Amino acid sequence: MCGIVAYIGHREACPIIIKGLRRLEYRGYDSAGVALLNGELNVFKKKGKVADLEAFIADKNVHAHVGMGHTRWATHGEPNDVNAHPHYSTSERIAIIHNGIIENYAALKTHLIQQGHEFHSDTDTEVFVNLIEEIQKQNKCSLEEAVRLALHEVVGAYAIVVLSKDEPNQLIAARKGSPMVIGVGENEFFLASDATPIIEYTNEVVYVNDYEIAVIRDGKLDIRSKEDVPQTPYIQKLELELDSIEKGGYEHFMLKEIYEQPKSIMDSMRGRLELEAGHLNMGGVRAFEQKFINAHRIIIVACGTSWHAGLVAEYLIEDLARIPVEVEYASEFRYRNPVLSERDIVIAISQSGETADTLAAIELAKSKGATIFGICNVVGSSIARATDAGAYTHAGPEIGVASTKAFTAQVTVLTLLAMIVGHRRGTLSDQRLRELMMELHTIPQKVEKALELDTEIRQISEIFKDAANFLYLGRGYNFPVALEGALKLKEISYIHAEGYPAAEMKHGPIALIDENMPVVVIATRDSSYEKIVSNIQEVKARKGRIIAIVSEGDTVIPPMAEFVVEVPHTSDELMPLVSVIPLQLLSYHIAVLRGCNVDQPRNLAKSVTVE
Ligand code: F6R
Repeated sequence: MCGIVAYIGHREACPIIIKGLRRLEYRGYDSAGVALLNGELNVFKKKGKVADLEAFIADKNVHAHVGMGHTRWATHGEPNDVNAHPHYSTSERIAIIHNGIIENYAALKTHLIQQGHEFHSDTDTEVFVNLIEEIQKQNKCSLEEAVRLALHEVVGAYAIVVLSKDEPNQLIAARKGSPMVIGVGENEFFLASDATPIIEYTNEVVYVNDYEIAVIRDGKLDIRSKEDVPQTPYIQKLELELDSIEKGGYEHFMLKEIYEQPKSIMDSMRGRLELEAGHLNMGGVRAFEQKFINAHRIIIVACGTSWHAGLVAEYLIEDLARIPVEVEYASEFRYRNPVLSERDIVIAISQSGETADTLAAIELAKSKGATIFGICNVVGSSIARATDAGAYTHAGPEIGVASTKAFTAQVTVLTLLAMIVGHRRGTLSDQRLRELMMELHTIPQKVEKALELDTEIRQISEIFKDAANFLYLGRGYNFPVALEGALKLKEISYIHAEGYPAAEMKHGPIALIDENMPVVVIATRDSSYEKIVSNIQEVKARKGRIIAIVSEGDTVIPPMAEFVVEVPHTSDELMPLVSVIPLQLLSYHIAVLRGCNVDQPRNLAKSVTVE
């Protein structure tokens, strides 16, 4: 949610920043801007995409070796040129870029107006930069000191970079609750919200921690706490491949990521599922083995698609490990007064590892003594660092805003976790464990096969692309898949869609069904198969247009459905990994056919770092 990038060194800053902003555009794409320091402090910004900014600066003097840029997802103030970042202070001698939200901005703004500061935008960020200017004026101190003192006055979340015309060759950054990584090159430094703008220049990075201030001056990086205590920067090696953040011939990142799933599922099992040796191994779970064995309860906190993966895990863990599970929206959990004990394990699931509500839920659970286990995709992310132990999903960077391969990677890791814990607790027999391991091993091939449905699904999409509503129904393990299918469709095609447990339909949504309502029913051959066949009859009796996702070879459902999509068969527990594939493809094709921006749907951003 908002992307920031900055550069200081011997190269031209602007091209590096613009390229970086394009990589970060998935984090927000309302408006973009750059500030460049070259004797003057020049800010150029524009409503729209990074491409609009590029066109705007094409005839400007952008020569500079120090600079910063921002791509925005609006929080305070509508997307327009004025609200775009960077923001100047009143004197136009200081500029700032900011990712996050300053909650006490209104009170600070009133005070600053009384001190003579002028405001042009509706943003909290402009308040931040004027606060720094005011503190510097009052205390006659350096910019670094003014930033440090300002951090004691703001309440909220931020990752900021600050430049001053009076202190050139210096870049000051700070974070609390919003991500920031510094790339360390030869006499040059790169700074960004994630490592993607940095990877082609250096693979040595420092992740800035909350409440730290980084000052890059005279070719040196100095990190201090908010209390001004020097910190030793911990330089890590990045393991990101440049290829993994490019489209590689696909029309959209989302399609590329859908097609990467056989590999990302395999990567998430690699070294963990050892079929020949006959054992499962996950470092994070091993570290917590006794806690999992003795857990009274598992509470899963997550948002959006990750929450749907959590629902699949509820079925898996209760089924295989016989531990009661509750799945909570992180945004609700954090604001109620949940009952938690030291015998509870909280599993936090997050692709980005930066979701503000999930982070806050973790902090709350920690304060109540629960043990926290994280499942994240982004290495070194805030959630990965805030948890007591965990497992990475190894899906590789997910750039399309709609989550696809992260979901199946999360479900893979959660399946492994449920199997390991169930086996250790004695609720999953050696034989069933072995069967599940063998079946899990075949899933990448089955996903590959499900991807062959692409052309067929594109044809179905042509027929339904103008629908106003969709209903998705599933039971058992396929119920969370129905929710996920509906979410995918609405977020990228803007068609209203609802997911429901198929039997729950009779308690309300059945009233919606008529000859215009497409109903996607996920009816693979599992323990609730007969029941869902009855639900299909109920839809058919009301003339709903049925698109059924069935197991290969099904002969019962085809006569009842208008369209039938056959997926490879697998066991109930593993079916979500396969049955979700046609739903991802359906939403993708419908969105493309409707002319929607699939990778950057309106109003959304990839990582939601504000609550
Ligand atoms: C939907 C989607 C979102 C995210 C949600 C949580 O396609 O991507 O619903 O799943 O914002 O994000 P993470 O997993 O990064 O915490």
